[in-house]
Amino acid sequence: MKILIVGGGGREHALAWQCAAAARVSEVLVAPGNAGTATEPKVRNASFAAEDVAGLAHLATAERIDLTIIGPEAPLVAGVVDTFASAGLRCFGPRRACAQLEGSKAFAKEFLRRHGIPTARSASFTRDTFDPAWVRAQRMPLVVKASGLAAGKAVVIAPSADEALATAQAMFGGQFGDAGREVVIEEFLPGEEASFIVMADGAHILPLATSQDHKRLHDDDRGPNTGGMGAYSPAPVVTPALHARIMREVIEPTVRGLAADGMPYTGFLYAGLMIAPDGTPNVLEYNCRLGDPETQPVLMRLQSDLSVLCEAALAGKLDTVSAAWDARAALGVVMAAAGYPDPPRKGDVIEGLERAARLPGKIFHAGTRLEAGRVLTNGGRVLCAVGLGAGVGAAQRAAYELADAVRWPGVQYRRDIGHRAVARERHSGD
Ligand code: AMP
Ligand code: GLY
Repeated sequence: MKILIVGGGGREHALAWQCAAAARVSEVLVAPGNAGTATEPKVRNASFAAEDVAGLAHLATAERIDLTIIGPEAPLVAGVVDTFASAGLRCFGPRRACAQLEGSKAFAKEFLRRHGIPTARSASFTRDTFDPAWVRAQRMPLVVKASGLAAGKAVVIAPSADEALATAQAMFGGQFGDAGREVVIEEFLPGEEASFIVMADGAHILPLATSQDHKRLHDDDRGPNTGGMGAYSPAPVVTPALHARIMREVIEPTVRGLAADGMPYTGFLYAGLMIAPDGTPNVLEYNCRLGDPETQPVLMRLQSDLSVLCEAALAGKLDTVSAAWDARAALGVVMAAAGYPDPPRKGDVIEGLERAARLPGKIFHAGTRLEAGRVLTNGGRVLCAVGLGAGVGAAQRAAYELADAVRWPGVQYRRDIGHRAVARERHSGD
């Protein structure tokens, strides 16, 4: 079996590594991949951009790919699954119509409202329909979001109406390009965040192990929002009771609602949740893909063959398979380049990778490239060091041992990934 993974981040390195581990898989191609996928056994990079939908379909045909798994949102929103389907190619991910759940926050809010799924009260505006009087009538703070794709960076918590108005105007004015043509403004929700990721086949649902990421750049969850500075699995905030509630109040109505709306959802589905003090799982956002970096610790724990699960989903038989998970916890620390989340410094030599390879755990690459046998930084988030341990605390120690073995000029990473889960563990005397 030959598999194609689309994307070039840490999530895609983890996907390629997991798929390549199966005996029935002969080769995994990654487009475009990174230095990590270039050096992984049974894995080969193909120099096609993740957004080059036509090029990817040609590649999959020419290489006789049996299964394609899409990592990032952009090709999904651009309709890569529809293109592959019309070429008779098997591709795991939602079609373009379903990917609007992530591609348009205004669409997602309307969907949530229509199907009675818990979420913050909101209104969506274009420049022409914008209503400053509505903004002034709301309780502060307000959360102002560009509706389109902006790599998670176009969300601003505005403490006053004046700031909310200025933020919305800047978004309409093109601060985030086309993503800000429509703007969603919603009430601020207190609580603890949780990520909830499942696989869906249009009707059936297979939840993945729970996970939690840290979006802020600095320790203590301070500083600017990023794509994610680290993640761990399982997430103790998602107790069995909360898990059942999220399935019942969020995931099942979402999959049912999409099918009822005539667009059955196949693929990974990620709900970003804010768990209210009373336990209500409010949806902050949908992603139509796996999370990055959540995927890295989650796949470290997956003991089943992911390609088997994807094939079952594509056949509409997700109810006939199950996923086995390592009972240990996994925790990933993202190592970023100087400057991130602003445009980062690139081209620094990464040292210590050989030493790290002899330690337990695994380093997944993201923004890296190979040049003359050396691994160079080539993006904002560069590596994700993942450790395993009996609990989140032990996994955290293993992950930092791995991260501390690697360095380059200007490297930055948080020292406290998993702090809430570790505190919970201490509390319960674990
Ligand atoms: P989003 O891209 O919509 O998930 O927003 C990015 C981040 O902004 C989330 O992970 C939250 O930390 C924060 N956020 C978004 N919406 C809200 C909200 N309504 N209330 C409080 N925080 C929010
Ligand atoms: N880590 C958050 C995301 O992938 O959107």
